[in-house]
Amino acid sequence: MKSSSFTSLFVAAAAFCAASCSEGPVNLQTSSVEDVVKAMTKEQKLKILLGTNLDLEEKNSGPVVGQHSLFVPGAAGSTFSFEELGITNTVLADGPAGLRISPTREGDENTYYCTYFPIGTLLASTWNQELIESVGKAMGEETKEYGADVLLAPALNIQRNPLCGRNFEYYSEDPIISGKTAAAYVRGIQSNGVGTSIKHFAGNSQETNRKLNNAIISDRALREIYLKGFEIAVKESDPWTVMTSYNGINGTPTAESYPLLEGILRGEWGFKGMVMTDWSSGNNGGAQIAAGNDLIMPGNKQRYNEIVAALEDGSLTMEDVDRDVTRILEFVKRTPRFQGYKFSNKPDLQAHAQITRQSSLEGMVLLKNNASALPFTSAVSKVALLGYTSFDFIAGGTGSGSVNSSYVVSLLEGLKNGGYQVDERLKDANLAMKDNTVRKNILAVVERPEEIVPDAKTLASMAEANDVAVITLGRIAGEGNDRLIENFSLTQNELALVQKTTEAFHKVGKKVVVILNIGGVIETASWKNIPDAILLSWQAGQEGGNSVTDILSGKKSPSGRLAVSFPAKFNDLGSSSNFPINPGIKNDSGMNRTRIGMTDRNIDYTVYEEDIYVGYRWLQKKNIAASYPFGYGLSYTTFQWSDAAVKTTKDGITATVKVTNTGSVASKDVVQLYISAPEGGLDKPVRELKAYAKTKELAPGESQVITLNVSLYDLASFNQDAMRWETAAGQYTASFGASCDEIKQNATFQVEKAQSWSAPTSLKGK
Ligand code: BGC
Repeated sequence: MKSSSFTSLFVAAAAFCAASCSEGPVNLQTSSVEDVVKAMTKEQKLKILLGTNLDLEEKNSGPVVGQHSLFVPGAAGSTFSFEELGITNTVLADGPAGLRISPTREGDENTYYCTYFPIGTLLASTWNQELIESVGKAMGEETKEYGADVLLAPALNIQRNPLCGRNFEYYSEDPIISGKTAAAYVRGIQSNGVGTSIKHFAGNSQETNRKLNNAIISDRALREIYLKGFEIAVKESDPWTVMTSYNGINGTPTAESYPLLEGILRGEWGFKGMVMTDWSSGNNGGAQIAAGNDLIMPGNKQRYNEIVAALEDGSLTMEDVDRDVTRILEFVKRTPRFQGYKFSNKPDLQAHAQITRQSSLEGMVLLKNNASALPFTSAVSKVALLGYTSFDFIAGGTGSGSVNSSYVVSLLEGLKNGGYQVDERLKDANLAMKDNTVRKNILAVVERPEEIVPDAKTLASMAEANDVAVITLGRIAGEGNDRLIENFSLTQNELALVQKTTEAFHKVGKKVVVILNIGGVIETASWKNIPDAILLSWQAGQEGGNSVTDILSGKKSPSGRLAVSFPAKFNDLGSSSNFPINPGIKNDSGMNRTRIGMTDRNIDYTVYEEDIYVGYRWLQKKNIAASYPFGYGLSYTTFQWSDAAVKTTKDGITATVKVTNTGSVASKDVVQLYISAPEGGLDKPVRELKAYAKTKELAPGESQVITLNVSLYDLASFNQDAMRWETAAGQYTASFGASCDEIKQNATFQVEKAQSWSAPTSLKGK
């Protein structure tokens, strides 16, 4: 008998027994979760509350972050099994840019490389939810076929300040685009029957002292900015799990916050899944379980003992434990591992490489294009390549958000693949510095080497010999560290490289293009006038060099838009006065800090003084021009928008606008709907993004009518004195923008009657 038919016979028999034999063995395969919880011993219950990095049971123990070797080597962790109860292990693996596991295994000739997909910031810059869902679908397939049950992603914390080391994993400074992007991503992944973990819930917008930083945030800013994206993702995509953050909010670690987890997440938003901690977070296991943080990852003896102690002192009850165990078992039941899925270890890596290449194209943002420097005309065949990063292209950031892919296409390779003759005379000298970039462990930042500035003679000869110059500037950051302030501006050598190359090429009537292979915002205002074109390629995963070439060559017109403002100066942003600037702390370990929110401003605690005025909301309120505003991005064609209209419906408004491609190249456009509220009542931003959509690829002359819906609830602001969402009556303006600063059409509408929705749970400090 084949083992699968044997299993189904067994399952059928056991199910029959559960239905008709009162004394049958309790088993998660056939019994209700309730019956299994009743049948579990106290010790079994306490164990399953913790991940398997717990030296309580040989077969279940394994090491930590990125090295977990049970079941799927390199996964981030797993949960306990109890064979006698039919409870299987489950495997949890990072992360946002694709599955992160070990590519090779000892004594095994096979390889287990994964696809390096674009970073979160690039995905959000596509403004294309359908596309993001298809990327998620591919990531989910890889997760399932390599034997994992949950991808620990998406990461949707707000990009509050350019220097946050993990911005590359995150989506935006705006909660609507963060939430919609996350929801699409989750739907795509979970369509495979594997889970996601939306993270880090919530307020994890800095890395300095990340495990003990106390974020001091008003209820209003929490509701409108820091929680809103999570609310949208929970309501629109039903993620299997949520991961709490390391930081505290207003004095309480998020994993120990009953109001956050039971009050808001479950009580107000109706979340039905499981909550897990971030790895080794928090102070006390008992408090975490009592707060409704069901699973502690990766688990250790200390947390186990704390749970036991909390049960003894009464701060934790067995009812709390049963509630959390129930949610864990409900989660286990959904997983492929529990359902006996036979994974292949052979995901379709070729198909996924194509998905990566195509999806990156849509998130790259053309920032500048003087005199149609791009796309290259047919007269361009010889390309002079400069900048270290052109030869060592960056696929993504460091830490748990990185992926072990079998290759990364550099710009040099991409241009060659695209049929260009590349002047690579600077390649060897640049790559000779590669050793300077070696990192010591998965959490250390990889420094980029200082740029080589070729002498005037070399540049003149390169300008003579080639049709155009391409310079790539790179930045890399990652988990555990925020970026240094120096990292925001160009270094002297970078500036000299751009200046001198441009001088030499302009002298002979040739153009210069700068590619920004970065994961977070940098300064552009002081030098953007120098080169002819600037393409923000972000970090596009393993196919980066090919995708950039597709845009340079005109194979595709760029259609990305900024999901984050590029301020003219660092201090133009409200958040910059309350953010750790070169705090002298390398990462979160060994800091002799023992409790949340101790004494040092911006290290132990950070006051979110700008409140709801993050990113463009701040710049517009203060009337400060951005270097490149939120929502901005050029294309190779032109679009005309017409017939903007807003209709009020029973539940809100329906806005429409007609977009016509008036240029000569096929491309997509993005319609951004910003709303301005009537005067009076709560203080409001100048305008706020409430909905958006990307057109299909419009051929020259082709039009499409875009329809966007906004509900009355979506229009609401949070009144923290009354603890409720409020939509004021009065006249609103709907602005159809090509960016937050470039409004193409306006329409007004009336809300006849004020509305409110109670949201009583406050996260104010004790
Ligand atoms: C990160 C999480 C990640 C986890 C497991 C933590 O250090 O903050 O984002 O999912 O490790 O690798």
